[in-house]
Amino acid sequence: MELSGFNLLRQPRVVFGAGTFRELPSLSSGYGRRALLVTGSATLCRSGRLDELLSLMSAKGIECESMEVSREPSPELVDHAVRRYRPDAIAVVVAVGGGSVIDAGKAVSAMLPCGEPVEQYIEGLAGYRPHDGSKIPFIAVPTTAGTGTEATSNAVISRVGREGYKRSLRHREFVPDIAVIDPSLMVGLPSGLTASSGMDAVTQLLEAYVSPGASPYTDALAWSGLEHFVRSFSSACSAGASSIAVRSDMAYAALVSGIALANAGLGVVHGFASSIGGYVDIPHGTLCGTLLASATKENIRVLRMSGDQALPFIAKYARAGRLFAGDPSLDDNGACDSLVDIVESWVDRLGFPRLGRYGITAGDVDVLADLTRGKNNPAALAKDNLKRILMERL
Ligand SMILES: [Fe+2]
Repeated sequence: MELSGFNLLRQPRVVFGAGTFRELPSLSSGYGRRALLVTGSATLCRSGRLDELLSLMSAKGIECESMEVSREPSPELVDHAVRRYRPDAIAVVVAVGGGSVIDAGKAVSAMLPCGEPVEQYIEGLAGYRPHDGSKIPFIAVPTTAGTGTEATSNAVISRVGREGYKRSLRHREFVPDIAVIDPSLMVGLPSGLTASSGMDAVTQLLEAYVSPGASPYTDALAWSGLEHFVRSFSSACSAGASSIAVRSDMAYAALVSGIALANAGLGVVHGFASSIGGYVDIPHGTLCGTLLASATKENIRVLRMSGDQALPFIAKYARAGRLFAGDPSLDDNGACDSLVDIVESWVDRLGFPRLGRYGITAGDVDVLADLTRGKNNPAALAKDNLKRILMERL
């Protein structure tokens, strides 16, 4: 493919490896002596890691304010934190948790200096104003391997309901300053959460890889992420997967999925994540998992009817299919079919629920298709194509 122009966002300083969690106090102290620690509601506490972190921070002379996040961040959660903490009293925001916790921390670090309601700065809402990018320094510490938000420039904010939305607060300066990725924090993650987080990561890798906005740089990252993902996903989903090597592969796949998506864009599955995710309360990874096979099948079907300009995208899907199948001898047609079959087999084996479980019926499909944007999807999908993807997973 001809090389066209591209932009690359700043990346976080990445500190990766088992045990790097204990470097947080010294990394935080580079910004000052007062930290706002954003965590999930239970897991970190139960594992004893929260107490360990607090005592390590204290030993380093860092005072911590604490904030708990139990679900995907709403505007009210962000605004409440902004009213509660003074920006001059917080030197660094440290978020330790899953994607929702890190997005909450990212949004609070971005809104503390500005002090205004976050909804004014969320993309696509009425009265949107661009943020100037000023923020409190931010350290992201993922405890799941999925969203890649430790490397992206946006925080997803949700309001659920018929008038709801799932949209981004975004600025290139919101890429975390440091990402501490410690796979030992992911050991013992329940297999259901490992599966749904992992399906988010692989959706992001695949969508960034086949995106019209991809570059050789993002291709290299996405491909490397897919290789690590494929060799460890099944093992990671087996009960109680405790191998650091397996968890490292998944954590790496998630990290590079974030870098790839931030620079190449995403496709129609994440288009549905915005529309359906604001419409009903469905975890993001579950939504990605349930739709990835049917969306990939529809993309390939439309690309096969789209003439020569579609061939590079079909070739990329086929290359991914050969990787997933572990069979380099497959021709492009067979490899594309294998890709869909393998993802379908994961979805069935891991028991990903259908959309109907979340209250979506055939009567919702029309309005959801109208609300969905294809983002950087390789195939131009019409409303009927979007409806076909949803109908297959009702
Ligand atoms: Fe995602």
